[in-house]
Amino acid sequence: MARVYVTRDLPGTALDRLRAEHDVEVWDGDDQPPAEELARQVADAEGLLSMLGDRVDAELIAAAPQLKAVANYAVGVDNVDVDAATARGIPVGHTPDVLTGATADMALALMLAVMRRLPEGERRVRAGRWTSWAPDGLLGRDLSRSTVLIVGRGRIGDAVAQRVQGFGARVLSAGRGDDLGPLLEQADVVSLHCPLTEATRGLIGAAELRAMGPEAYLVNTARGPVVDTDALRRALDEGWIAGAGLDVTDPEPLPGDHPLLDAPNLVVAPHIASATHHTRAAMADLAVDNLLAALDGRPMPHSVN
Ligand code: DGY
Repeated sequence: MARVYVTRDLPGTALDRLRAEHDVEVWDGDDQPPAEELARQVADAEGLLSMLGDRVDAELIAAAPQLKAVANYAVGVDNVDVDAATARGIPVGHTPDVLTGATADMALALMLAVMRRLPEGERRVRAGRWTSWAPDGLLGRDLSRSTVLIVGRGRIGDAVAQRVQGFGARVLSAGRGDDLGPLLEQADVVSLHCPLTEATRGLIGAAELRAMGPEAYLVNTARGPVVDTDALRRALDEGWIAGAGLDVTDPEPLPGDHPLLDAPNLVVAPHIASATHHTRAAMADLAVDNLLAALDGRPMPHSVN
């Protein structure tokens, strides 16, 4: 029986399977455990089930001499120092596939919301400012007439491409190493689906936003730091682009008084692309499968190293 630390309670029944075999401690705070608490808990843990907001860095790994497995409750593992874990022979698990559909759906939701100005319309109704039907009231743009550039050719990017094609949009895609410049100029919507790596950090900055043009929209369901937040705020304030739909931000969580929130034509959600009952329970199952396998000396079914 191994000691396992889980940094959040999980939906579904997966944790019961973990408890049946191991000594499991689950952080029960409303927010993620503070860094000191995480360090204290992993000091004698053999397994860690972490969330994307937990920093599992080289220092934490070094301070956990008995750690044998890290199962991240996310497909992205940018919060984990995978090299440091690999150097110690610690497998790092993630949760691919099960969240592809939910995340792609959220990209479409953000795209349609910002292109059709839904939050603005809703605010108008609730404020009692819906006074008449107007031929030029809240005009937006048609997804069906748009060219959508998918940045990232993985599972989620493909699923978004399929969905927007269903709407009648034209699809362009960019993968690792492609020159984004000419593609950005052709796109009416740029939807980000790449992992956060040193190569993609700040991938969309001032030059890229200017290249998109004043009728184009940016959608980010990947990771906040792929976009330069200050440049995005300027792009929205100064009309370099038409609008943005974000499920992820930098910083994250985004404080309620962050200047980005004053920018026009911005729709923002609190990193909930995978937040459906089915998907989050399926992610819990994969994370627990990963831990059970590694603690039993077997390869994780879904590891990144
Ligand atoms: C992931 O899994 O990486 C998502 O961002 C969270 O659902």
